[in-house]
Amino acid sequence: MKKVVVLTGAGISAESGIKTFRDSGGLWEEHRVEDVATYDAWERNQALVLEFYNQRRKQLYECSPNAAHYALAHLEKKFDVQIITQNVDDLHEQAGSTKVLHLHGELKKARSTVDEELIYDIKGWELKKGDKCEKGSQLRPHIVWFGEAVPNIVPAAQLSSEADIYLVIGTSLNVYPAAGLLNYVPNSIPKYLVDPNGSEVYGVSKLTVIKEKAGKGVTELVKKLLK
Ligand code: OAD
Repeated sequence: MKKVVVLTGAGISAESGIKTFRDSGGLWEEHRVEDVATYDAWERNQALVLEFYNQRRKQLYECSPNAAHYALAHLEKKFDVQIITQNVDDLHEQAGSTKVLHLHGELKKARSTVDEELIYDIKGWELKKGDKCEKGSQLRPHIVWFGEAVPNIVPAAQLSSEADIYLVIGTSLNVYPAAGLLNYVPNSIPKYLVDPNGSEVYGVSKLTVIKEKAGKGVTELVKKLLK
């Protein structure tokens, strides 16, 4: 089976009702990154950081996958599909995709603040002050904050280098190291970018830009690839 590697960002979940970060009305217009998404923010005000992610999690429970998530799951019928997502939602998994690598963590999980190997499913939408790991430390959201290492970038780069076809969906390619994954994709393979505001990416060869929302653009692209 040919390997299709898919890099997704917030735009693929937009039609499910989850806000993107940098579009107008996006999350980073309402909240300052340095107040809610850095380790310093956590040290300064744990309650505020917990509340920010609790609200995101609560909202996620009200959302469902959209046509784009389902189309990518369907692509597994004919291809070895590996998804690399910057998203912390689990809509790819809910839609049925079986290989999903999360670069920036997972909203429905918490982790220990003394042992990063200790990761737990959060029951319900709320992570509270006083919720502790088995070693007694406060649990934090299992999210990669700005300034923190991105451990899954290593397998993601390897997967990107092994692709036969590469898809990029709904990301502004503003955040590194995720955006740098394109440098690992072989020059010779076909690449597709689906984003209503998409454009050529400097230095990326054989790229077809599909200026559509993910629901329509990905569904049509998947149909074409399955033909
Ligand atoms: P951005 O908000 O930076 O970009 C969203 C992209 O989705 C833009 O290029 C939009 O044009 C596009 N878009 C909007 N609606 C769409 C739709 N219906 N279909 C397809 N595309 C659509 O989000 P990301 O690139 O994912 O990290 O941001 C990367 C990271 O920055 C996030 O993972 C998050 C954020 O800070 C952390 O919090 C660590």
